Amino acid sequence: MLKALLLLLTLIVTQCLSNEIRWDHSVDLDENFRLLWRVKEPDIIIEVQVRTHGYVGFGFTRSEYIYGADMVVGWVDNKHTFFQDRHIPIHSNNGEPVLDPSQDYVLLLGRENSTHTILRFRRKLRTCDEKYDVAITNDTMKVVYMYHSDEPKRGSLQHGSLPDPELALKPIKSLLFLQRPKFEKVAKQNDENIETFDVRMKNVLMTSSNVTKACSVLRLKENQRGHVVAYKPIFEPMIARTYIMHMIVYECRNKHHPNYNIDEDNASCANIQKLQCTTITATWSRGSQGFVYPDDVGYPIDSDIASLYFLEIHYEVPTKSFADHNRISDSSGIKFFMTSVKRKHNAGLLSIGIQPVWTHIIPPGFRKVTSIGYCTGKCNKEAFSTTAAGGGSGINVIGIQMQTHEMGKSIKVGLVRSGSELHPIAQDHNLDSEYLEYRALTKAIQVLPGDDLMVECAYNSFDKTKLTLGGYEAQQEICQATLVYYPKQDHLTSCYSKPKTKNFLKSLNIDKLRNSPPFAIELPEKYAGKTLEEHLKTYDWKTEFDHFEQVSQTSPIDVVCSGSGGSRRIIDDDPVHIKQPFRPPPSICERIKNQIEESIDDNNLGNIQQARSKVLRSSDFSTLNFSNSSRRLRVINWLLAVVTSLAILRKFSIATCH
Ligand SMILES: *[C@@H]1O[C@H](CO)[C@@H](O)[C@H](O)[C@H]1NC(C)=O
Ligand SMILES: *[C@@H]1O[C@H](CO)[C@@H](O)[C@H](O)[C@H]1NC(C)=O
Ligand SMILES: *[C@@H]1O[C@H](CO)[C@@H](O)[C@H](O)[C@H]1NC(C)=O
Ligand SMILES: *[C@@H]1O[C@H](CO)[C@@H](O)[C@H](O)[C@H]1NC(C)=O
Ligand SMILES: *[C@@H]1O[C@H](CO)[C@@H](O)[C@H](O)[C@H]1NC(C)=O
Ligand SMILES: *[C@@H]1O[C@H](CO)[C@@H](O)[C@H](O)[C@H]1NC(C)=O
Repeated sequence: MLKALLLLLTLIVTQCLSNEIRWDHSVDLDENFRLLWRVKEPDIIIEVQVRTHGYVGFGFTRSEYIYGADMVVGWVDNKHTFFQDRHIPIHSNNGEPVLDPSQDYVLLLGRENSTHTILRFRRKLRTCDEKYDVAITNDTMKVVYMYHSDEPKRGSLQHGSLPDPELALKPIKSLLFLQRPKFEKVAKQNDENIETFDVRMKNVLMTSSNVTKACSVLRLKENQRGHVVAYKPIFEPMIARTYIMHMIVYECRNKHHPNYNIDEDNASCANIQKLQCTTITATWSRGSQGFVYPDDVGYPIDSDIASLYFLEIHYEVPTKSFADHNRISDSSGIKFFMTSVKRKHNAGLLSIGIQPVWTHIIPPGFRKVTSIGYCTGKCNKEAFSTTAAGGGSGINVIGIQMQTHEMGKSIKVGLVRSGSELHPIAQDHNLDSEYLEYRALTKAIQVLPGDDLMVECAYNSFDKTKLTLGGYEAQQEICQATLVYYPKQDHLTSCYSKPKTKNFLKSLNIDKLRNSPPFAIELPEKYAGKTLEEHLKTYDWKTEFDHFEQVSQTSPIDVVCSGSGGSRRIIDDDPVHIKQPFRPPPSICERIKNQIEESIDDNNLGNIQQARSKVLRSSDFSTLNFSNSSRRLRVINWLLAVVTSLAILRKFSIATCH
């Protein structure tokens, strides 16, 4: 064990020698706290640069609270760096992180300059310390961070020695760690081959009336040609950000509007139909920074083919008192970065999921309501076979944005081929509807003509007393995903499913409904005379929920397939029947656990070590605690004793680099 510690120290020293790291990502959590990271599976290297000479803390939480958070805490004092893996106990009264029995973070560098404290460290994405560490996965991560101008006296690690933890802790932030697009590239794109154009609102007045949607059109200059390499949202004024739910930019083909005069236009949203703009060029949802294309892919722009771009924004209605005081005139929109240097692949966008209309129902009062939208093979087969350069080999998905509103808790975009479910295109078990970032898929995922795509959303409606309907407004819900793929095809730009009216009524136990307002129920007898609206308001969801879910998930559906130029087909289909569900391979921690259980049966500690180093390739002194077998505990106690005495000897400090 002592050897392990020595190894650790050596490791740190060698790591210090290679000082420069090319970071994948850089995010300012606030004006004083910069976070940088680089993923090298199975490890992640993180650096925090914080404007303080006191202590700093950084970590992750599983819930929306700090309690139970996995933290590292460190500070630099007199050229010694103090650094520990800690956690915030579930029943903490002031949020002070306390030491973990298992130290799973490895310090690589600690230093101070005249303004900042800098800590660099490494950990496994999954440390397998299931009790005190949070695994870093493809899910949205909830980041906890803290800093303070003081540090503990004499390097004390005692409980209660961190000055003012409550004050030091900052609000939790959502962040993608593993599939975040490299937005940093956009900042560097100021070379001469890049030009930008904005598609923006023209001073739309936000009021407290029910205006929730506004539109605007941009005409490109003549002879504009190139590839969009990135886009990002613009908020003007900044406060508009609070009220914008979605932005969608559509491309309008010239052949559908040869003599359209943009100057006479009043930016009416009805024009989108007139101009037949259905090809999606960009989408934005809350919390997103936009999208950055990989180096060989771009969205094609050619003013000879499409010169008009149509922006649609969905607003959340501000409260009356707010709107009356602040007459916000909105010019928000999307900024496109376009290169004149041609890229290899043309990208396209495809929106899939549940048709955002009132037939999407979420009953109130349940902790989990599942809704599934389908883009079935019947709808996409032809379109994906015609991909210009694809030669019938389908599309390659390189990015994805998954969207729900506030009730959404998890979402999955599944892929089914001939009844077998493949690895999901993406999923998030920790969805935050205020942070719907695009994900960059480092390895393109191929979708073949005839594959079934599914968007599965799980909502929590427990606090609701009224039912929720589908739609883009804030109090409605959606279940959608936008796929970014190549090569571009124009036959399918959105692909949504909805229940057939007959089955929709059946799921609500209605046999016959009068077909004109106010939609009175005729059969069955027990509901006769009630309107549909009254029925939904008074429906006994507690007893009827299972019937509702069963009918809505098994009855035939309509798949609404739209293409460029306003083409639209409605296809009769069935919900996708999965014969073989996808089973994820056991995680590294499950594998370790299994091997250890075998070893413990032999009560042989040597085997445990072997098992660990077999699984964890770079076996350092990371996870100590896998089980509570007595022998194990004895070793842990002994090790803790060694660590503690070392701490006393060296004040738990590790020689700093520089
Ligand atoms: C201290 O380091 C931080 C992070 O590397 C850097 O941003 C800052 O400019 C440095 N301050 C000085 C005075 O060099
Ligand atoms: C994240 O998803 C990618 C596929 O896009 C997969 O290759 C990778 O293993 C996942 N990472 C983790 C930690 O689950
Ligand atoms: C807004 O809509 C709500 C119901 O959706 C309605 O009660 C209210 O009168 C509307 N307000 C205006 C100003 O139209
Ligand atoms: C635009 O609106 C103004 C007044 O609101 C109206 O007079 C004009 O005819 C409209 N233009 C078009 C092209 O609809
Ligand atoms: C710890 O060991 C006891 C008895 O050996 C067992 O009953 C218990 O489930 C174990 N706890 C865990 C968390 O493994
Ligand atoms: C090790 O883990 C077990 C179960 O997770 C826990 O009961 C035990 O207290 C841990 N040991 C130490 C030293 O924390």
